[in-house]
Amino acid sequence: MADIIKNIKGTRDIFLNESVIWQYIESYIHSFFQQYGFSEIRTPAFENTNLFTRSIGNETDIVSKEMYTWIDQGGNNLTLKPEVTASVARSYIQNNFNKKHVINKFYYIDTLFRRERPQKGRYRQFKQFGVEVLGSTYAEQDAEVIALIYNFYNSLGIENLNLKLNSIGSKESRIKYKKALKDYLTPHKDKLSKVSQGRLQTNPLRILDTKIDFEIEILKSAPRIIDFISKDDSDHFNELLSLLNHLKIKYVIDYNLVRGLDYYCKTVFEIQSNLLGAQDALCGGGRYDYLIEELGGKSTPAIGFAAGLERLILVLENQDDIIKNRSDIYLISLGEDAIKFSFEIAEKLRKNNLKVIMETLRRSLKSQMKEANKLQVKHVIIIGEEEIKNQKVIIKNMDSGNQKEISLDQIDTFSKNKIDV
Ligand code: HAM
Repeated sequence: MADIIKNIKGTRDIFLNESVIWQYIESYIHSFFQQYGFSEIRTPAFENTNLFTRSIGNETDIVSKEMYTWIDQGGNNLTLKPEVTASVARSYIQNNFNKKHVINKFYYIDTLFRRERPQKGRYRQFKQFGVEVLGSTYAEQDAEVIALIYNFYNSLGIENLNLKLNSIGSKESRIKYKKALKDYLTPHKDKLSKVSQGRLQTNPLRILDTKIDFEIEILKSAPRIIDFISKDDSDHFNELLSLLNHLKIKYVIDYNLVRGLDYYCKTVFEIQSNLLGAQDALCGGGRYDYLIEELGGKSTPAIGFAAGLERLILVLENQDDIIKNRSDIYLISLGEDAIKFSFEIAEKLRKNNLKVIMETLRRSLKSQMKEANKLQVKHVIIIGEEEIKNQKVIIKNMDSGNQKEISLDQIDTFSKNKIDV
């Protein structure tokens, strides 16, 4: 027997009820984000590798060990997108968006790839939805972006959100802070885990993300990045806080929040849910005022976030209600003529926006009824030789058990008013 080929570790198949939830959420995201005046952007699944090394940074986990990178047959160095911000920045520059509008507000739903260790809420192929706003430097832009995602989760009934904020200031303040943190941690080096000892050399800021208790203890007296930022950056942060207070959005300032990508400056934020376990970040984002210029565009302030779709679905509570998106009709057909006939009826019903399933296995009446039950359809329509001869069909309500006979020319009006048996 031939070997069975399985999916790649960290990837998933989505089908049946779960796919109903995905469709519902994806269409909800489209309508919600459009209400805020954002327009969709779709970027390619792969890009030149140096787009990501230049924007996310060589020392980050993503670039140093998680990217799916290969040289193609033409000798090009390519990478499957590990995140969307860099691609939006590339597209913004390439398409001269700054000349089209002074401010550009994009949203996306996209599939991404990172070679991380798979666990609950963490996959090697996953989906993000997010926004990128390019053009405004003001704190109200930060507030709008944060309020957007906060309101989004609230509107889906997701409670107990933990919004964490910090300001990491400019590039220069980060360099100064990096040195101060390294100086502080070096005398504690022997007490740090092997991973953190390595990070002390390559990227000391990553140590701030630690979940190890004794490291958290050591970090309690560490210098704070917020004490290294300029007066302007601190004013910007305070303006944001006062707007969030005004909007009654609850947050905590987390002085250790620096985020694991190099392009950030000033505001950074994350929203966590305690329903998620170890991978508890529902979303993360921040400002990246230097990125467009660093990628060769005209200096443009920008801010955005991205949110994991798998993680959203893990915390979504009313899934049963969403799944109850049942089909309206199962067309039971008995005999050759009935099959032909059922095509016509199905089309008529579908034109009236009803969801109709057809029989294609030539099963007995009993088996087709069983199937209709299993699929939890709302109604069945039975078409047999008798029905064709009399130009009448039987409609049965599967919940109440009631049934009715209607003539074929009634089907049209009948379905327009939805079915009431
Ligand atoms: P990120 O923090 O790397 O940020 O990812 C954002 C969110 O994507 C995470 O909070 C998480 O919900 C989800 N996520 C990340 N990795 C995985 C994974 N392996 N499996 C499942 N979900 C995952 C960014 O990607 C930035 N581009 C966000 C941003 C946009 N900043 C500014 N604009």
